[in-house]
Amino acid sequence: MPRITEGDQNLSLERAHWQDASPANETLQRDTALYYHQVLSTPCLDQIVRAEGPYIFTASERKLLDFHGNSVHQLGFGHPSVVRAIEAQMRALPYCTRRYTNDAAVELAEILVSSAPGALRNNARVLLTPSGSAAVGIAIKVARACTGRYKTVAFHDAFHGATLDAASLSGQDLFHRGMGPMMPGVMHASPPSHPDCPSCAHSMCNDACAEPIEALLRKHDVAAVIAEPIRATTVRAAPRSYWSRVRSACEATGTMLIFDEIPTGLGRSGMLWATEHTGVTPDLMVIGKGLGGGIFPQAAVIGRQELNDSGPTPVRELALGHYTHEKSPVGSAAAIATLRTVLDERLAQRAHELGCAWRETYEAEFNSMGCVRAVRQIGLMLAVELKDPEHADRVMYEGLRNGLSFKVGGGKTLVLFPPLNIEQHLLDDATRIVIDAIAATA
Ligand SMILES: Cc1ncc(COP(=O)(O)O)c(C=O)c1O
Repeated sequence: MPRITEGDQNLSLERAHWQDASPANETLQRDTALYYHQVLSTPCLDQIVRAEGPYIFTASERKLLDFHGNSVHQLGFGHPSVVRAIEAQMRALPYCTRRYTNDAAVELAEILVSSAPGALRNNARVLLTPSGSAAVGIAIKVARACTGRYKTVAFHDAFHGATLDAASLSGQDLFHRGMGPMMPGVMHASPPSHPDCPSCAHSMCNDACAEPIEALLRKHDVAAVIAEPIRATTVRAAPRSYWSRVRSACEATGTMLIFDEIPTGLGRSGMLWATEHTGVTPDLMVIGKGLGGGIFPQAAVIGRQELNDSGPTPVRELALGHYTHEKSPVGSAAAIATLRTVLDERLAQRAHELGCAWRETYEAEFNSMGCVRAVRQIGLMLAVELKDPEHADRVMYEGLRNGLSFKVGGGKTLVLFPPLNIEQHLLDDATRIVIDAIAATA
């Protein structure tokens, strides 16, 4: 039985069938022998030999539309503008030693500050990090230092990264197993628009569903509430009235609101930032994944300008972003090219239009299948929730056999994240693969 967790696991019966039917090639065998095994990845399924645009090509000669892509592929793989920018930057300045800055890092910060959502626009400061987890860690440290408190509130089913601090925020056991004490002071609340929501039992979340957060903030001195503005893994969103109440509770208690935009940013949700759907501005936001154009690991923290100088311990007195690759010129060049492409090609708008058309075309057909529990769509975050987790696992492998890779989130939700520049006919082909796979494996 697949466990309900962040992504599909590699321990299922279907995986065993796949492995029996497709013996590992030599590279896969060496990988399995050399890398630590991980329930969300290793032993791997196959070897990728090439990735281009929306496709991955495997050693077993499969050509797959990649609608998983670890959410780094807003532009698909190997986008020419990003490749050109990286190549040019590697020749001009491959690395930036501490004590110095560089043009690319400064230009990236300017673009991030000028395109930040809500009240952060033109009123923010930035720190770059080599991973999303590191960005989450920094955001928590800023909130602790600037409030003089240490407690944090996250959601039960949350995932914010794999480092010990970020994993502590996760509400999933898998990331705590065998770890001993996690970061102190983390408390979990029921997420909105979730079957476990005590207020609305998933009928339709409303502002009252923010009560668990309000209660925690009343009882404890909390440094920060951290949340995804849209839960990417299951494509669930709360209404604006919910966020407005959370924001008010934060303001009333001097708690910071941190939005984790790592999988949802850069146009994926139909807006440049998923934060824009919430109607509120967080104190800090973290971005990553596709920021490096699906090529370079690049993430960032964007936060209120005045945190630099205010609070019990202002940021300027700390060394929060002391990473070896602190202001990577190559990562910055990749991020500038990515952001420019998303903005110039109006990919957020495209995601909105393609996503809405997808829902209009296919929602009824999915809903007519007795095994489908719900269809959700926000921009090009597309989700088909099934009733049975084992069925979802079968659909995933049937999809892989027929040329489509996607994630199974929360145990039973088929999550389709196409590149935002996907051609319409490929989105239709992929959806047909999903519909046929659901029917074939029911
Ligand atoms: C919501 C969210 N936050 C944080 C992270 C961590 O990012 P990274 O893997 O770059 O450390 C992830 C990664 O999947 C994520 O989905």
